[in-house]
Parts: sequence; structure tokens; C-alpha cells
Amino acid sequence: MLSTGSPAIPTPVSDLQIQYTKIFINNEWHESCQERKMAVRNPATGDIICDVEEGDKEDIDKAVASAREAFQLGSPWRRMDASERGRLLNKLADLVERDQLILATMECINSGKLFLMAYFVDLVATIKTLRYYAGWADKIQGKTIPVDGEYFTFTRHEPIGVCGQIIPWNFPLMMFAWKIGPALSCGNTIVIKPAEQTPLTALHMAKLIKEAGFPPGVVNVVPGYGTTAGHAIAHHMGINKIAFTGSTQVGKLIQRAAGESNLKRVTLELGGKNPIIVFADADLESAVQQAHHGLFFNQGQCCLAGSRVFVEEPVYEEFVCRSVELAQRMVLGNPLDLHVEQGPQIDKKQFDKILELVESGKREGATLECGGGPWGQRGYFIQPTVFSNVTDDMRIATEEIFGPVQLVMRFGSLEEAVCRANATQYGLAAGVFTRDISKALTVTSALQAGTVWVNCYNAMSTQCPFGGFKMSGNGRELGEDSLREYTEVKAVTVKISQKNS
Ligand code: NAI
Ligand code: MG
Repeated sequence: MLSTGSPAIPTPVSDLQIQYTKIFINNEWHESCQERKMAVRNPATGDIICDVEEGDKEDIDKAVASAREAFQLGSPWRRMDASERGRLLNKLADLVERDQLILATMECINSGKLFLMAYFVDLVATIKTLRYYAGWADKIQGKTIPVDGEYFTFTRHEPIGVCGQIIPWNFPLMMFAWKIGPALSCGNTIVIKPAEQTPLTALHMAKLIKEAGFPPGVVNVVPGYGTTAGHAIAHHMGINKIAFTGSTQVGKLIQRAAGESNLKRVTLELGGKNPIIVFADADLESAVQQAHHGLFFNQGQCCLAGSRVFVEEPVYEEFVCRSVELAQRMVLGNPLDLHVEQGPQIDKKQFDKILELVESGKREGATLECGGGPWGQRGYFIQPTVFSNVTDDMRIATEEIFGPVQLVMRFGSLEEAVCRANATQYGLAAGVFTRDISKALTVTSALQAGTVWVNCYNAMSTQCPFGGFKMSGNGRELGEDSLREYTEVKAVTVKISQKNS
């Protein structure tokens, strides 16, 4: 048959069965110690999809014991050739590829993200992350260090031990891969807790981890709430490192819990209030498009959402006008439908938080250009919203909204734009649009952010480190940099015998 040359358009699985709803410890499925379950909902309808076993402190204790056992010196995991760890990660990537329609459909139904985005963004990134860290497994090397001639000194990059990993609901599967990929590549063992709203793809991954052949106890998946299971992970004396993605508020609790327990290593990926600076000489059409997607992608539920757009005076009105046109054209609806462009927010709590912030914007005098209210009869949909004439002190300009609400502000000079862009506790990402390379590089070096995009936005890649300055977090994920967060460096010094001299 002749190929048409166009890629096949994937379609969701129509009769999706949820098979895995229990706690995964030691490669087995467990009921919760307290015999409790939690309801998992579809945010597009508010309907319950299924119940999942709810883990709490005792379940975390069991999971940690299993992860500790798997990490014992001499265990199959510790004895394994590093290349074999890479092979297992690649095998897992193969299984994710095999099940990608199931996983994308599940992610869509459970998190409300668009099926096509789940398939072409989240699944692609998940598979790529697993393969990328599979490649690193046997390339994590120490050094020999020149010291006093009577000694021989070298370093070993050893796994840290049991890693507690707590992830959010906005990219459930992708966050799972960002967390387990580097941890397993370096030889650690894991207790991971998905967000209470979105445990389903994590539990399917648990099944694939067993199928791939990882030894029992290497990865344990415990669904549960933050204040119970999450709290137990953060305070656990048997966990050596914690990696968290979520709110800044909880990030602070995690760091404090580490200090109060065993000073476990901490990496945090937290919030953002990310600036995009558009100069008058930029390709305006492209800047409008990029800023639009940079905010509305994933219903605005991204730590790197470009929620403060600073536009230079001469092109301000034009920019607002074109941004409003794009926002008004968005098609809302069932995220499984292939033509839909915006799905629901994750839950009632987020829906209420966003609408409350929108109201504060109206009250504080910003100009509501479009949207500003709920959409549809059921589910947690919010109209794509654009505010203009926003000032820096308004709540919408200072707090993370995490919803489909774009703010456009005007600026006069480069110095002013940089100063206002940096006037936040956050420092995750930023964008600059200009045709002037000197201007771009001047602004890039002045911006306090872990990621700066020039004439683009949201251009992520697995190979590139990601993380925050200031209160957006500690440490880096992805790329080679993340390996440092999952290893301890041991310096070994050997006295050289002088017998034959
Ligand atoms: P959250 O920070 O409470 O939840 C994220 C994860 O942390 C979940 O797995 C949750 O169960 C866990 N958690 C919650 N409380 C905990 C505790 N005391 N100890 C240990 N783990 C705990 O975020 P939430 O409440 O879902 O959303 C609130 C705001 O956080 C959002 O409006 C948004 O601004 C921000 N957020 C940022 C994310 C990011 O990607 N950086 C992701 C999700 C939320
Ligand atoms: Mg919370």
C-alpha cells in the first residue's frame, strides 16, 4: 500500500478498563493497611472513574522496608551490571510504547488533559526520558584525582539509597518518568506517591515496571493524600532523598520535614510566575502565538506557564487585540474529542481558586478583555481569559493562578521590563521576543530564571536541565545535571605501599 506521508492520527481507546487500583509494593499488589479507598474522578464530568486503595503511614512504612531491602548490598539490584539497569529502563520504555494509546486515554480521562496532547507531548516525553536515562546508566563515572604521590585517590558516584518521590496532577505520567528515570539510572530504589487526583497512569506504570523485570522493591507506588502518605514520606527516617514537584507552600513543608527528620537530600520543583518580554521589534505574530500557547497549554496548569506578558508600548494594543482573538477562538469540550483545544481544570478546588483570582483582578481594576467565568454545564471548565492593563501589585500579577488566565502588561524601556520581570519570589522560566540579538542576550543574562527561551516558549527537551532560581525550587531535573541529584560522591584514598623502593 502507498503511504500518504501524513502521520496516522491516534484515537482514544473506546472501552478502557482500569485494571490496577491497588498499592504496589515489592512487585505485588496490596490493599491499604487501614482498608480505605479513595475515589478517582474524571474532571470533564466530575464522575467517579473508580476507587483506588488509599495509602497512609503504615503503607509507606511497608514500601520503605521493601525499598531498603532491595537496596541492601548484595541484592540483585545492587549486584546488577550498570548496563543491565539501562536495559531494564529501555524495556520499560518499550512497554510504555506498546501501551501508549491506553496510557494517553487514561491520562486524558483522569487529568482532563487533551488526548492528543497526552499522546504527542506527555507520552513522547515519557518514553524519551526513560530512554535518555537508560543511556546514562553505564556512563556515570568517577575520576582519579592527582594528590600527594604516596596516595591514590579516586571518586565513586554511588546511588543515594531510597528515594521518596512526590508528584503532582498536571503531568502525572511525565512527572513519574522525570522522577524514576534518573533515580533508577543511578541505581537508587524508590517509593513514589502520585497525586491523589491522578493515580491511574502511575499504577499502570507499576505493572509495566514488574513486566519489564525490575527486581521486587526497586520501585514501589503508593497512592494517597499529601497530608498523610506524603507527610509520612517527607518525615521518614528510612528515606535518604526526597524529590518533590508541586506547590511552593508544600515545598517548604518538605524541606522543613527533612530538617526535622534525617536531613534527607531534597530537590524541589515548585511554582512560577513566569515573565515573557515582547519588544516592539519582535516578529509580533509569532510572539502572540507563542505567548498564547505558553499560557493556555494544559489549561494553564503548568509551573512554567507564561502568565505575565510584558509588551513594549508601541505594539501593546495590537498584541492585546491579537491575543484576545486567539483566546476567543479556542474550542472547549470533552478532552477525548480530537478537535477540542481546552479541557477542564483538575478539580473543584482549582476551579474555585482560579475564579476567585479572576474576580480579584476585576475588583482591583484590570481590564477583562474576554472570558472571566466558568464554561459549560458540568465539569470544571473555565473560559479562556485575557486581562489587560494589569499592574504589578494586583493579586493576579503576583500569585500563581495555574489556570487559563493571561495577563498582558505594558512597558517602556528594557531596564524597566527586566526589573519588573524579576520582581517576584519565583524564578522558574522566562521568555524574550526580539530580533535584536544583543538585546536578547542582555535580557537573558539579567533574568533570574532557571530557563530562558528566546523567540520561543515552552521548548523543553529531556537533555536540557530544568529547575528554578529563588522560590521556584532547589536542584535540577532532566539532562546530565539531574544525575548529580541522585548520587553521592565518595572519595577513596589508598596509601600506596613503599615496600619495593
Ligand atoms: P500540592 O503541592 O498540595 O500537591 C502536589 C503533591 O504534593 C501531591 O502529590 C500532594 O498529595 C502532595 N502533598 C500535598 N500536601 C503535602 C504534604 N503536607 N506533605 C507531603 N506531600 C504533600 O498542590 P495542589 O494543592 O494540588 O495545588 C495547589 C497549587 O500548587 C496549584 O494551584 C499550583 O499553583 C501549584 N502547583 C504547582 C505544580 C507544579 O508543577 N509546580 C503542580 C501542582 C500544583
Ligand atoms: Mg495542596
